[in-house]
Amino acid sequence: MPVSIVIGSQWGDEGKGKIVDLLSPDVDIVARYQGGANAGHTIVWDEEGETEEFVLHLVPSGIFHEGVTCVIGNGVVLDPKAILEEIEKIKSLGVDVEGRLKISHNAHLIMPYHKAIEAAQEEERASADDDDEIGTTGRGIGPAYTDKFARTGIRVVDLLDEDVLRRKLRRSIEEKNAILRDVYDAEALDVDRIVEEYVEFDHKIDDYVTDTSAYLSRALDDGARVLAEGAQGSLLDVDFGSYPYVTSSHPTAGGCCTGLGVSPTEIDRVLGIAKAYCTRVGNGPFPTELDGEVGEDLREKGDEFGATTGRPRRCGWLDLVALRYTCMVNGFSELALTKLDVLSGTDELKVCTQYRYDDKVTRRFPSEPQNLTRVEPQYETLPGWEADISGVRHVEDLPREARDYLAFVENYLDVEIGLVSNGPRRSQIITDVQPMAAA
Ligand code: IMP
Repeated sequence: MPVSIVIGSQWGDEGKGKIVDLLSPDVDIVARYQGGANAGHTIVWDEEGETEEFVLHLVPSGIFHEGVTCVIGNGVVLDPKAILEEIEKIKSLGVDVEGRLKISHNAHLIMPYHKAIEAAQEEERASADDDDEIGTTGRGIGPAYTDKFARTGIRVVDLLDEDVLRRKLRRSIEEKNAILRDVYDAEALDVDRIVEEYVEFDHKIDDYVTDTSAYLSRALDDGARVLAEGAQGSLLDVDFGSYPYVTSSHPTAGGCCTGLGVSPTEIDRVLGIAKAYCTRVGNGPFPTELDGEVGEDLREKGDEFGATTGRPRRCGWLDLVALRYTCMVNGFSELALTKLDVLSGTDELKVCTQYRYDDKVTRRFPSEPQNLTRVEPQYETLPGWEADISGVRHVEDLPREARDYLAFVENYLDVEIGLVSNGPRRSQIITDVQPMAAA
């Protein structure tokens, strides 16, 4: 059974891009199944002693590996402008994209009016008495998925037929302009300008468009190995996260099947990616958030600024109650723990093992935000370590306290840690974790 899924197990930004890039040489296809250009998957590599970095928003993180085909599945919401710009940037690095990138004909498109509506909605939420702004990335994700489920969306396949596109676009823009003007008192968009701009995308995108579900099915029949790349994180899932402070798609394991059109019986590995501490961008409850110096220290050391928006990320201790919940929802077969190096130089590390609320102490994660904001995290304190571990390549060379930290996490979750990432570069990875972590 040849499909593996890489899934963010927290609030996104766990370092999925690096892990997908690392696993790509062992697969034939890397496929994105949900989200859109709200994602920022950072790849860092050493090129003749120089560190190079590339942030992918839509193109799967396997693109830098020759021979790997990249698929953007039907579950993704695609900003045609953003994808074409990203393709050009990748090509400018000398990477061959032609024939190696396939875009689902059924993926829904993000249009300028999605971003305009989202901006207006967020502005209104921010100015409301209860200030319930979500803090989105502003990429039009929510309104694009709204149109998809309202059955009024425009899909990639529509770009390929000028008459259909003109008709659908006009109708959509006129409807959205009425909402912008009448509901949000916002500026209407120029219908003709948008129509003329978007009919141009036809020939630019045509070569990449295909029925990706059929392509994947044929490839799997022929023995291909597929890596499904989740975006965002499980705690941002529209069903399993702290709704409404979530994204509008399904980063969790189930999203892979519907977002690519592959059967669950094809999946044999569900790899959860967890940061050694926690971060969150945007609003919404975050039980282990650290407001003071320790949080700032994590932000600085971990360079915790959004790869897509540049916003500072909120930082906090590792929350095992939340992680146990996402292990349950996804059924992780193993975990990769990232950014362990960021915890170096701290005397004591705290790990949240229980929540207290309503005078009860529990390991249950309440995803309802009204309860999640009320919980008081209960911590266990573990000894920290001083040494810089970013150069360590074997688990036995980690300080005892770092190995104990890994063992504590594994024992609590009852899920094995198979990989430890200790720096942003490709080479900063420990793969021989198993024999030592549980020791
Ligand atoms: P949206 O996905 O832009 O609608 O944003 C909804 C929520 O998800 C906001 O809190 C965003 O900050 C968060 N979010 C969306 N994409 C990412 C991501 O790739 N990493 C981390 N947070 C994200």
